[in-house]
Amino acid sequence: MRILVTGAGGQLGHDLVDVLNGCRPPGAVSAPGSAHDEVFGLEHSRLDVSDRHRVAAAFDALAPDVVVHCAAWTAVDACEGDPDRAYAVNAMGTRNVAEAARRHGAHVVYLSTDYVFDGTAPHPYTEWELPNPVSVYGKSKLGGESELDPEWTVVRTSWVCGFHGSNMARTVMRLAGSPGPMRFVDDQRGSPSFTADLAGALTLVARERLPGTFHLTNQGVTSWFGFAQAVLRAVGGDPGRVEPIATADLDPPRPAPRPANSVLDNVAWRALGMTALPAWEDGLARLVAALGSGIEAPSQS
Ligand SMILES: NC(=O)c1ccc[n+]([C@@H]2O[C@H](COP(=O)([O-])OP(=O)(O)OC[C@H]3O[C@@H](n4cnc5c(N)ncnc54)[C@H](OP(=O)(O)O)[C@@H]3O)[C@@H](O)[C@H]2O)c1
Repeated sequence: MRILVTGAGGQLGHDLVDVLNGCRPPGAVSAPGSAHDEVFGLEHSRLDVSDRHRVAAAFDALAPDVVVHCAAWTAVDACEGDPDRAYAVNAMGTRNVAEAARRHGAHVVYLSTDYVFDGTAPHPYTEWELPNPVSVYGKSKLGGESELDPEWTVVRTSWVCGFHGSNMARTVMRLAGSPGPMRFVDDQRGSPSFTADLAGALTLVARERLPGTFHLTNQGVTSWFGFAQAVLRAVGGDPGRVEPIATADLDPPRPAPRPANSVLDNVAWRALGMTALPAWEDGLARLVAALGSGIEAPSQS
């Protein structure tokens, strides 16, 4: 199978290309099985998905059977200030990928987000609940979902952390090295998800071309306050340094509203009899160990 990964320089795209190539990404539970696929990982510099002609040309050159569309403008607060760019990349970029995929008969797996929900539900969101995004980022990603054909795949995930790129685990690890209080919100709840684990599940989704919408996250729920405490514990720091605050007390306030409840129930995945992703605490321990080990990023095709 010929598999194209967009956004291959991002934290998820990077690990996904590794797993598809049969390499073990840093922090993965086990080595992936041997790979028989031809994998094309295109970073932003090699493929700008908002450029319709470049997307068409890339599909013509590579003729993929499956495309895992990880590319997105993920700077949630910056999206709020530049909606045109958010829609150009996240919604129109996906339209461009969809158009080219249709022309080549390729299956699309689109990465989407917990931010398509408003976060007001008192329970974890199932795949069949009605999205109602409250931020430009969430609206633009939902726009991307609406560009897909019904037999293609949407994978919504949340609170993504990986070895490559910036994320909350790395932020807390950096802050741990400097003195002073650390304040994190305790009124936003979600499931931290780790690229090394997500990449394995996504490989399965892509190879099987599983149709429909899936919520795929590591298991268990915490707040950003609880997550920061766990990161400190994992690096041998003092979790007592972290102070819980309310979102309303953030100074300065963040431009983009966040869903208070970001928890995604992985119902569809369970219903297929698939193995749930490991507990988030387990994924965090493996990520911290990999980051602390000074492992160099494996080379990418
Ligand atoms: N991060 C999260 O917490 C989170 C949560 C839920 C869902 N997701 C979704 O999961 C997917 C992967 O996220 P991630 O955490 O790996 O994000 P990431 O590290 O920001 O990766 C996204 C990649 O897309 C690239 N990109 C941006 N604009 C592009 C364009 N116009 N054309 C092509 N590539 C472009 C970025 O390149 P540059 O950096 O060079 O611009 C980056 O390498 C995304 O679809 C995201 O919406 C993420």
